[in-house]
Amino acid sequence: MSPKIPNAVIDDLRGIVGDKWVIVQRELMESYLKDETPDIIRPKPAEDLILVKPSSTEEVSLILKIANEKRIPVFPVGGRTGLVGGAVPTEPGIIISLERMNKIEVDLENMMAIAEAGATLGDLIKVAENAGLFFPPHPGDEGAQIGGLIATNAGGARAIKYGVMRNYIKGLEVVLPTGDVLSLGGRILKNNVGYDLIQLIIGSEGTLCVITKAVIKLFPKSKYMVTLVVPFNTRSEALRSVPAILRSGVIPLAIEYVQINEILEAARHLNEKWPVHKGFAQLIIILDGMSQEEVLAACEEISRICESNNALDVMLAETPEEQNRILKIRSNIYTALKPNMIDILDVTVPPSCLEKLMDEVDAIGSRYGVYLPAYGHAGDGNLHVHIMKEGIKSMEMVKKIKGEIYEMAVRLGGTITGEHGIGKIRLGDLSMVLSEKHIEILRGIKRVFDPNNILNPRHPL
Ligand code: LAC
Ligand code: ZN
Repeated sequence: MSPKIPNAVIDDLRGIVGDKWVIVQRELMESYLKDETPDIIRPKPAEDLILVKPSSTEEVSLILKIANEKRIPVFPVGGRTGLVGGAVPTEPGIIISLERMNKIEVDLENMMAIAEAGATLGDLIKVAENAGLFFPPHPGDEGAQIGGLIATNAGGARAIKYGVMRNYIKGLEVVLPTGDVLSLGGRILKNNVGYDLIQLIIGSEGTLCVITKAVIKLFPKSKYMVTLVVPFNTRSEALRSVPAILRSGVIPLAIEYVQINEILEAARHLNEKWPVHKGFAQLIIILDGMSQEEVLAACEEISRICESNNALDVMLAETPEEQNRILKIRSNIYTALKPNMIDILDVTVPPSCLEKLMDEVDAIGSRYGVYLPAYGHAGDGNLHVHIMKEGIKSMEMVKKIKGEIYEMAVRLGGTITGEHGIGKIRLGDLSMVLSEKHIEILRGIKRVFDPNNILNPRHPL
């Protein structure tokens, strides 16, 4: 354990960012001590913490320099919407929030946004839209910040056509623990000068550097967009349709899988109405294109595939209001279920194995006598299986259920986390997917960036 932060350091920090932006009272930093991980499994924050809110890259650099010299842990936080405790400050140290660094500019000609790390996803969506452009991925909570989205390589819905955060980031400005500022890439689409540090930093979960700015690829606004909701009697019929849609030549923005109980629960939670009450399993498919004609032709192809898998209906939402409502309800399933939840898993398998995965999840649920609700980004082979409180007798039982689901995902050629990341609650499961040699290389990379292990320290990485 590191010692309490010396008063001289607190004074130095005040000198850098101004008195107002160094917060030492615990009651004023409560919301910075946690993320959205379910309460039972969320790591506990340390006692001795101070919160610092810099306003520039230079201030971030000065803060890190001091922390590094004094070997004080630093926890970069964004919107704290993560689900694996990645941003929870678990050792005495400095929480650094970039919320004051929230400017976004748009380079319309090159279709790029230049965003400071503290700007929110909601801001980015809005700024892009005002410029007539589009930021396609939708990793759920729009309060997430750009720095966090990059540090966690966020994915979410609408990642099929253009990918996850990784596919959008063309440039980064970051501050290393030494205080050195690195400017990587830029407003360019091709860049081939050696090891790609941008890609290494994306997904590094605040362990290598503090991200201060990013160049983000945008796309032209879709001329026409529709959302389909397709109900099926069985999960298998719905999931079997997914690889067939992916093979059809139509490239949807999203293919989301939901089950009736949970989506209705989310609608109730928001006091909204879900448009389709039929069936046990439903697919939500978002399509866009240049014209109504093009998109409706794609809808027909998808309807044909779903009907050949016994779809009960195909509901088409065309107005932006209706489509936004559908996405909002879908995005709130987690929040609606959270009070009764122990863990949200994030396994990913090849899309053709989704049906098999869920059959096995059902078998595991029956063996333990628990219902394991699931939904997620079926088009990416990425499903969130939930372990709920009901029927669970001990944390040992949770561990066993989780372990069996992970084993199954890995056996099917998948992985234990497709979008939420490792954070602090999945570190113990790493050896299921990474070899000892692989972990050793990751540790080596961490040492090169952060020799004193001050940035979001966690074990074994
Ligand atoms: C979702 C979050 C929980 O897919 O990842 O809703
Ligand atoms: Zn998700």
